[in-house]
Amino acid sequence: MLIKAVRTFEKDQTKGDITKISNIAKERKMSNPRVVDGTIGALYNDDGHFFAFKSIDNVIDKLQDIDKYPYAPINGGAIYQTQVLQWVFGPFLARVVAEKHLAVCATPGGTGALSIALYHYLDINETLLIPDLNWPVYEHLAKEFGINVSTYHLFRDDCFNIEGFIEAADAIVKKEGKLVTIINNPNHNPTGFSMTYEDLYQLGDYFKRLEEENIPVVFIYDVAYIDYWDYQNGRKGLNIVCDYGKNVLTLVTFSASKSFGIYGMRLGALIAINQEEKVIEDFRTWSTVACRTRWGTPNRIALSIFNQIVTNKEDRDEFMSELKKAQELLFNRSDFFIRKVKEYNIPIYPYQGGFFAIIKVQDSLHLYEYLKDLDIFGVPFDSGFRLALSSMSIKDIDKTLIAIRQYFEIYRM
Ligand SMILES: Cc1ncc(COP(=O)(O)O)c(C=O)c1O
Repeated sequence: MLIKAVRTFEKDQTKGDITKISNIAKERKMSNPRVVDGTIGALYNDDGHFFAFKSIDNVIDKLQDIDKYPYAPINGGAIYQTQVLQWVFGPFLARVVAEKHLAVCATPGGTGALSIALYHYLDINETLLIPDLNWPVYEHLAKEFGINVSTYHLFRDDCFNIEGFIEAADAIVKKEGKLVTIINNPNHNPTGFSMTYEDLYQLGDYFKRLEEENIPVVFIYDVAYIDYWDYQNGRKGLNIVCDYGKNVLTLVTFSASKSFGIYGMRLGALIAINQEEKVIEDFRTWSTVACRTRWGTPNRIALSIFNQIVTNKEDRDEFMSELKKAQELLFNRSDFFIRKVKEYNIPIYPYQGGFFAIIKVQDSLHLYEYLKDLDIFGVPFDSGFRLALSSMSIKDIDKTLIAIRQYFEIYRM
């Protein structure tokens, strides 16, 4: 007897299936260490080993039973809530707190935050707006909840396509009387693109127009890669999006995976910001229940690590100097990558920094197969081929770009 799930998915194809491709690459690498694995969205050292923060290890060693085994508070507890706001907003927190109402809930990674946000602000058959180049999990989350997805071209002349955003948003607003959208910034996955402050102001102008029409907006600002941008500038964008009008509920999704290198421990946060306390009160009510029913409580060990690292000066200083090293590792790869794509005349989408970059190629599956035969792995997306600079040494990047240059010489149409 065939027993089928009531909510299921079509069988995944290779395009955008990061986990499947990553597993193929890992398997190959086990028998051949020369395999280039440009699929992993985590930071690796140039020697191919995972970039582990020693300061985090030291904190783990110091944890007592009470910090590890009991249930954690459902929403993360007061220390986590205060400290995560401090971490995410940095120098801008005081102003935001003075002018807005805020609430925080701890989640398993940024994914947990995105999941409950979409479930609670979009009904079945309502529409989520995202760019055409996106982290495929957004679409999977929407599908899981019976939410429709509408996309706009992320770029116009290699700049943020505000006109495309507005056109797609207007179509949704006209039909549904509300707008829910996700923007991943800075260091967007899969391109490495960062919006300018002007882009963020223009979004605000558009939302202001919606305010005049009494249209509510849920603006989900996914800052998963914020700590691989320079500290102050990455956070300036946050300062702008917190200033959107009273019709905008800004939901910031934070991921401790990338910032603290604790991917597998699953820690993040959903932060709600609005001018009206009653909007935030509603958020507090539903989010407490949502966390309880989805995952019970957050990961106690991850919470304890975060709380200790950010509140203890010695641990924090050690961590910050390691974070600087992690950033430099990535900045050096980025510099090299940008130099080489220019030299080899390889077309890419705008890349300012971060874990990923994407090659412009018409048939990304064809390029994927071509490179796979050379034991080089990246992820084919609909409109390009993604390389994870986070998991590739400079040597890997060089080898990969030489192969891609050859590919274009043979197949450029
Ligand atoms: C764009 C984007 N947002 C959010 C996340 C969430 O990551 P996590 O659930 O590990 O915090 C990721 C992870 O790859 C991502 O690429």
